[in-house]
Amino acid sequence: MNVISFDIIPSTNEYCARNISSLTHGDVITARRQSAGRGRKSRKWSSEEGGLYFSLVLKEGLSLLKSPGTLTQLMALAVCKAARRAGAEAYIKWPNDVLAQGRKFCGILSEAVFEGQALKAVIVGVGINLSQKELNSDKPAVTLAELGVKADAEFLLKEIIDNFNFNFELLKRDGFEALRSSYKEAFLYLGKPVKMHIFEETVQGTAEDIDAEGRLILRQGKTLRVINIGDMDF
Ligand code: BTN
Repeated sequence: MNVISFDIIPSTNEYCARNISSLTHGDVITARRQSAGRGRKSRKWSSEEGGLYFSLVLKEGLSLLKSPGTLTQLMALAVCKAARRAGAEAYIKWPNDVLAQGRKFCGILSEAVFEGQALKAVIVGVGINLSQKELNSDKPAVTLAELGVKADAEFLLKEIIDNFNFNFELLKRDGFEALRSSYKEAFLYLGKPVKMHIFEETVQGTAEDIDAEGRLILRQGKTLRVINIGDMDF
């Protein structure tokens, strides 16, 4: 694992995007703090000391993937597994938030880098709340410390990257189907009522399944709806 560490930079994702030509597949960029951490939907990701902030650079094997979006789900699964090993009762809220006790402790932002039409790289950025005071408040949030989990940042990072790399091989070879059962096991909402926000629309239904491409199958009465983008309510 090739890790490049900084004390403070604006954003590990932004660093990777700016230096993408000189970075190689599998490089991990970490920062103890970020001065302009990015969240999803152009939100700010507060990144004071006490959290784990890193980005993983992927350049190889991307053409083998049916949908690069599944990389974010793969990372959510890796974080969930690592947090469980550290002692947290972690689970996934589709597609890629990682929670414990109903509160989010990890956010993931994947960003694609194109050269013309060709996908050149994917940067998978991860922010994990370990023990910092100020949390990102788009959703109810928690730190692992508040959950009574003393997670060492280095241990977590290694566990996450090892798990991701192992599953990335499976994903390239067999598609999301290879991870589907592990992902479904980590996704606690199967068979339960959920409320989704899809762009401007809010839909309700039952989380019936996760399909072979990582999409959510939502049951609304007799109708099954395939959802590939959206946010679930907490
Ligand atoms: C979310 O909004 O849930 C995603 C947050 C992703 C934050 C991480 S922290 C490391 C990496 N660098 C960034 O600027 N953002 C991601």
